[in-house]
Amino acid sequence: MLKRIDLSRDFEKHREEYLKAIENVCKDTAFSGGKYTDKFDKEFADFVGTKYASGVNNGTSALHAAMTALNIGPGDEVIVPANTYIATAWGVTYTGATPVFADCTEDTWEIDAESVKKKITDRTKAIIGVHLYGQPFDFNAIDKIAKENGLFVVEDCAQAHGAVYEGKNVGTLGEMGCFSFYPGKNLYAFGEGGSVTTDNEAYFNTVDTMKNQGCRVRYYHEMIGYNYRLEGMMGAVLSVSLKYLPEWTKRRRYIGKRYLSEITNPLIVHQAHPANTEPVFHLYEIKVPDPDNFLEYMKDKDIECNRHYPVPCHLQKAYAHLGYKAGDCLNAEDLAAHCATLHLFPEMTEEEIDTVIKACNEYR
Ligand SMILES: Cc1ncc(COP(=O)(O)O)c(C=O)c1O
Repeated sequence: MLKRIDLSRDFEKHREEYLKAIENVCKDTAFSGGKYTDKFDKEFADFVGTKYASGVNNGTSALHAAMTALNIGPGDEVIVPANTYIATAWGVTYTGATPVFADCTEDTWEIDAESVKKKITDRTKAIIGVHLYGQPFDFNAIDKIAKENGLFVVEDCAQAHGAVYEGKNVGTLGEMGCFSFYPGKNLYAFGEGGSVTTDNEAYFNTVDTMKNQGCRVRYYHEMIGYNYRLEGMMGAVLSVSLKYLPEWTKRRRYIGKRYLSEITNPLIVHQAHPANTEPVFHLYEIKVPDPDNFLEYMKDKDIECNRHYPVPCHLQKAYAHLGYKAGDCLNAEDLAAHCATLHLFPEMTEEEIDTVIKACNEYR
């Protein structure tokens, strides 16, 4: 069976380097925060192109911390796309504010500026755009609405390390960029991890303090804190993988472009990739008439596939109390009903890429 992602291939390839990095952390007993996470924070800020990066324990905490840095709380509303991983909305909910779900566009499947406009109320404080599947959302359109209405824009970059919008790296566009290093992400730790990137010193200080039990000086707690620190081992491993990220991104783009041009089955709909963006193909999402049937078909061919995401956020049980109903975000609902995820990871062989393309083209 061809696994949808096989991380063991990367580990085997760079085994010595990864194990050495872990050994160093053990020798220095720099397990929580410390020199390896500090080093990675600097490297990641350089990579993204922001003044600051603050490593945290996962991408969900990154979003929570970013919302806190913007002073968002009870009574506030934050607009997020209905088509995203649910954690985008958790970051808002944890502050006591309310996520308000906007639809995605019909072709890019990214947050739709027109839908966002309709969701703005007196309580709206911010918009979180998600560069979903590694495809940058239309930042300028969202930013224009934000500026007209005095709102903040935060980027959820969990799926888009290294993606570029109009020549600028994601994570540099909004007030803050929130990244995840969950295993399987384009840049991943050997466990959980995340980061908040920003040029704004005040935001950085809040995130950096909040994640560290609310203190900068030990045992002096300036704010309600959380234990959201990045672990030393994750920092050390991430410093190794960050070196390979450009190479991995190149390979993802190569595979993504092959799928885009060579999968020509009319039953399969591809995501649109606007010309002013350079996506990084975190997930190769397609639309098919009957995803369960497609997944079964691929399984019969020994190819494992899955779906991102079968239920849009506004219709998740966890948010039933917000009162959304089917029909509220039509494009997101259509995508949820028809999506399937193809294989795409940098270590795929040419033969495996060919196998996926052939299977897709032979699907009836
Ligand atoms: C779009 C998006 N936002 C946020 C997250 C949350 O990241 P984490 O799993 O590291 O908490 C993820 C992770 O899957 C994600 O895909």
